[in-house]
Amino acid sequence: MPKIAEILSDDYEGKEVEIKGWIYRTRSSGSLVFVVVRDSTGVVQVTVNKDDVPEKDFSDAERALIESSVIAKGTVAKDERAPGGYEIRASGFNVVGFADKYPITKDQSTELLLDQRHLWIRSRKMTNVLKIRSAVFGSIHDYFRNNGYWEVQAPILTPSMVEGGSTLFKVDYYDKEIYLAQSWQLYAEAMVMALEKIYCIAPSFRAEKFRTTRHLTEYWHAEMEIAWEGMDECIKEGEKLISHICQTVAERNLPELEALKRDPEYLKSQVPPFPRMKYDEAIEMLQKKGMNVDWGKDLRTLEERALMGDLEKPLIVTHYPKEIMAFYKPRDPENPDVALCFDFIAPEIGDEIIGGSERDTDIKEIIKSLEREGEDISRYDWYLDSRRFGSVQHSGFGMGIERVVQWICGLEHIRDAIPFPRTVARYYP
Ligand code: 4AD
Ligand code: MG
Repeated sequence: MPKIAEILSDDYEGKEVEIKGWIYRTRSSGSLVFVVVRDSTGVVQVTVNKDDVPEKDFSDAERALIESSVIAKGTVAKDERAPGGYEIRASGFNVVGFADKYPITKDQSTELLLDQRHLWIRSRKMTNVLKIRSAVFGSIHDYFRNNGYWEVQAPILTPSMVEGGSTLFKVDYYDKEIYLAQSWQLYAEAMVMALEKIYCIAPSFRAEKFRTTRHLTEYWHAEMEIAWEGMDECIKEGEKLISHICQTVAERNLPELEALKRDPEYLKSQVPPFPRMKYDEAIEMLQKKGMNVDWGKDLRTLEERALMGDLEKPLIVTHYPKEIMAFYKPRDPENPDVALCFDFIAPEIGDEIIGGSERDTDIKEIIKSLEREGEDISRYDWYLDSRRFGSVQHSGFGMGIERVVQWICGLEHIRDAIPFPRTVARYYP
């Protein structure tokens, strides 16, 4: 049985077909009902003529509301006035499930659409985004699997922080306090000593305090870790990964990109190398632009956007100040004030899509940094064993998948890059 998108072509003209789907729009006039039906591939008009179908089919077609599920049979005919240029002239129209009055009508508020998210995901916009999201996930797996990485998972329930204590979600674990994972990284640093090249796609959790268009509290995180390699190799992997994702979507998602008004050529142009800049240079550039920024502070969105300017490829900023960086990022031997770390900032959304670094091999430095953050070292003892038993240089990064989807799809808000967003204000539905 063909899907709707296939039917919209000369190949099917005059042919008898049966389609399954949901009512997208419906209107009746006298002895005719025009029902636009959607399935996962597209929409087609089914014209139900009282004279051509059994009586019950006609009366069901007349009273079925939007989002009722239906099976329609009929002949495909060319019709300029129908969406897509073809219609199905029905010989049978079977309503599988009558829908209640649909709560989503035109011009609804964002809040209502979020309350009705379980229904709103049926919209063309969300369907297009979810198809691209699926391609993005697939392309991440392809990239790593085709480049010698093992996929390996880490626990979500963890006794320790990775990215600072202030964004930890606490979990009551049989009267003990543990946390939802912010990152797989600490476990990755243990596992990379066995498998050497590893990756994972998993949810990460951040108890963000601010409402922004780029923060979720639960997001999907693609992370990688490689042994024997330093920051440069790691950055190159990040560039190749982003490029592979963009090429894949440009190839496989033309109808979705078109519907979202995104140019596939723009995605195809995402090839390495991406522009690079050291944090020092970034500060200098921002100061020259007249912005009030001091060396030693993390870059805020405002500043990241100013740095991006009109750049069309992600900007890689490296060598941030050691003092404000996570405990595992090593000092640059050539300039001990900065760390061997990097962020990729995406064009358009002007926000970080990848964060990564070389990992400190100096156990004393790691302990000092953890103590400075007020951490209980005993919770990290297992992690420190990676430095006690055959420590080697290694590095890795994490990529926020929703931010990449947001950028590729040109979405204003990150919540539309995930089917059921979790934000500061929302955990329902
Ligand atoms: O920069 P982050 O915090 O780095 C880490 O978690 C490292 N442990 C990764 C690693 O080296 N293995 O987070 C990585 C990426 C960010 O660049 C961003 O794209 C995304 O995760 N991210 C978020 N995405 C959506 N909502 C949030 N609240 C996010 N916080 C981080
Ligand atoms: Mg970061």
